[in-house]
Amino acid sequence: MCNSVCFIILSWVFAVLVFPGVPARSGDSALKDNITVRQGDSAVLKCSVDSKVSRVAWLNRTTILFAGTEKWSLDPRVILMENTAITEYSIQIQNVNVHDEGPYVCSILTNKKPKSTKVHLIVQVPAKITNISKDVTVNEGSSVNLMCQAVGRPEASITWRHQSARGGHKFVTEGEHLELISITKEQSGTYECIASNDISSSDIRRVQVTVNYPPFISKARSTGTPVGQRGVLQCEASAVPRADFEWYKEDRRLLNGINGLKIETQGKQSLLIFFNVSEEDYGNYTCVAMNTMGITNASIILYGPGAMHDVNGTPVLRRCSACLLLTVTLSHLLKF
Ligand SMILES: *[C@@H]1O[C@H](CO)[C@@H](O)[C@H](O)[C@H]1NC(C)=O
Ligand SMILES: *[C@@H]1O[C@H](CO)[C@@H](O)[C@H](O)[C@H]1NC(C)=O
Ligand SMILES: *[C@@H]1O[C@H](CO)[C@@H](O)[C@H](O)[C@H]1NC(C)=O
Ligand SMILES: *[C@@H]1O[C@H](CO)[C@@H](O)[C@H](O)[C@H]1NC(C)=O
Ligand SMILES: *[C@@H]1O[C@H](CO)[C@@H](O)[C@H](O)[C@H]1NC(C)=O
Ligand SMILES: *[C@@H]1O[C@H](CO)[C@@H](O)[C@H](O)[C@H]1NC(C)=O
Repeated sequence: MCNSVCFIILSWVFAVLVFPGVPARSGDSALKDNITVRQGDSAVLKCSVDSKVSRVAWLNRTTILFAGTEKWSLDPRVILMENTAITEYSIQIQNVNVHDEGPYVCSILTNKKPKSTKVHLIVQVPAKITNISKDVTVNEGSSVNLMCQAVGRPEASITWRHQSARGGHKFVTEGEHLELISITKEQSGTYECIASNDISSSDIRRVQVTVNYPPFISKARSTGTPVGQRGVLQCEASAVPRADFEWYKEDRRLLNGINGLKIETQGKQSLLIFFNVSEEDYGNYTCVAMNTMGITNASIILYGPGAMHDVNGTPVLRRCSACLLLTVTLSHLLKF
């Protein structure tokens, strides 16, 4: 087999053989426009000739690809194009790859004068993400390093966007690495890595970042319930992972299905249901929400009719019909 040194010798030999009687040095060379082709596509390298041309050759750097119609290159992707004998001596490189980038020379001998046409082949590669961090779950306050690697020619630029739980997209940073120091629960969600280089549409891949945090009770509510009716205490806790709930009356743990009670927990909400409220049911209840990150509780009071209760344990008087009447009357009076 022939190595590159041998090829250089061959091309020198070729120059002597093909251009007999002329010094083996490059003649006038005209730098034609660069040829830009996408990786995987075919490139056609064109070279104009006329009837006076006696010898022609195509070279890849110093390696001969074709001498006349004779193929010297061992690469099956390089072919001499058909019907080019009269005015054109063009070759095609199929399935172009990044290694094909570089100068190609069409050497022509006309009237014993050597001439060469230089073509610079530029290979473009669409931006493509080759590696990205796996989805992660971390505790609130810890640090997260995300990585996204991409290839592309010209070099791909990398942008990170954060898609929050509410659905909005926000630019975060540029570059392969995204560092989230002392992460908060608001920083959880989907991170998008966008690789682009204007060659084709951007390549986008996503990483899911889950942030564990202890529960906090966002809703603790009761409605005033008369004796003999169904009563419901509602407790809602935000937490990752999802909170488990327990219900207490004073120090006594309440269990599902006992004493006419039902505990119904679904997602972030737990309901304490009284099938038939009695006088003894009225009082101070505690909803306890817990997960691996922590525990919290809230007091909820089951009242008789006429009062509601909010999370802080402050009774809120129901809007009385008299007040309503007054409001209606006032608004009527204001019209006149
Ligand atoms: C052709 O490409 C080369 C290398 O990328 C560059 O230096 C040169 O300026 C380009 N020429 C033209 C005419 O675009
Ligand atoms: C051109 O030369 C380079 C460097 O030797 C080589 O890697 C590439 O495969 C060659 N391409 C063609 C089409 O001959
Ligand atoms: C992706 O990157 C990680 C971390 O650098 C490495 O361990 C892994 O082998 C890479 N995977 C691929 C397919 O390159
Ligand atoms: C609710 O309890 C009271 C007293 O124990 C009883 O009289 C009444 O029938 C019960 N109501 C229902 C719907 O079970
Ligand atoms: C209910 O009990 C909790 C403690 O268990 C107490 O902090 C809170 O003040 C009580 N609420 C009322 C209205 O008594
Ligand atoms: C509710 O929380 C307080 C303070 O965090 C704690 O002292 C109390 O024991 C808790 N109550 C229950 C029933 O877990």
